[in-house]
Amino acid sequence: MKKGEFLYEGKAKKIYRTDDPELYLVEFKDDATAFDGVKKDSLADKGILNNRLSAIFFELLEEKGVETHYEKTVSEREMLVKSLEIIPVEVIVRNIAAGSLSKRLGIPEGTVMKKTVLEFSLKDDELHDPMINHYHIYAMDLAEPEEMAEIEKVALRVNELLVPYLRDKGITLVDFKLEFGRHGDKILLGDEISPDTCRFWDSSSQEKLDKDRFRRDMGGVVEAYREVLRRLEGGE
Ligand code: TMP
Ligand code: ASP
Repeated sequence: MKKGEFLYEGKAKKIYRTDDPELYLVEFKDDATAFDGVKKDSLADKGILNNRLSAIFFELLEEKGVETHYEKTVSEREMLVKSLEIIPVEVIVRNIAAGSLSKRLGIPEGTVMKKTVLEFSLKDDELHDPMINHYHIYAMDLAEPEEMAEIEKVALRVNELLVPYLRDKGITLVDFKLEFGRHGDKILLGDEISPDTCRFWDSSSQEKLDKDRFRRDMGGVVEAYREVLRRLEGGE
């Protein structure tokens, strides 16, 4: 497998073609951004940690029958994935109120939701990823109803699998964001699953072990990511 033409640079990752048209190479950068890129920094080793953490989550999900774009890890910062045509809808799953939900609805952070909440936003930084609903998705032709039914089913299944897995490691899965894409006639889970895209709280102290430490200038960002990896690898 050869690293081919550079395709796309996101805020935390770069994507390259390979000599196989079905496969892309994802390179995880150390760059951290928040508030649509307004706040920026480079956090040494973040890319290495997110590459490893995403691989662990994708492997676990694949083992449980969730189809993801993940193929294999090829280096410290790189994973091979199936090529996807990304659906520009971010899918957010929430178990506990935090972040923008707390702000928007006035629900104090930490409140356990009576039912899992699914939200969708348009993947568009210039517009600040505005929240949208099914009507917008179909009116804007972002995805088909059958595709959304599959996406929602998989998003809830990912939650069902990750909540108990993380609970065993002393981590509460507060919320997370997923992205999906088309590969042939399949919809696959894409992007990454990492402390950049999830809220992880220590189950006993409620300490934040995710990107909120960066968003809120709390310090100890990489140390928190490393702690998550230690727990997942060490099997606390
Ligand atoms: P929010 O509360 O800020 O809307 O975030 C909800 C979840 O989505 C949280 O786990 C962090 C994640 N997220 C991303 O992955 N990318 C983003 O651009 C934003 C705003 C949130
Ligand atoms: N990823 C988004 C940004 O870079 C926001 C976030 O994760 O808070 O701006």
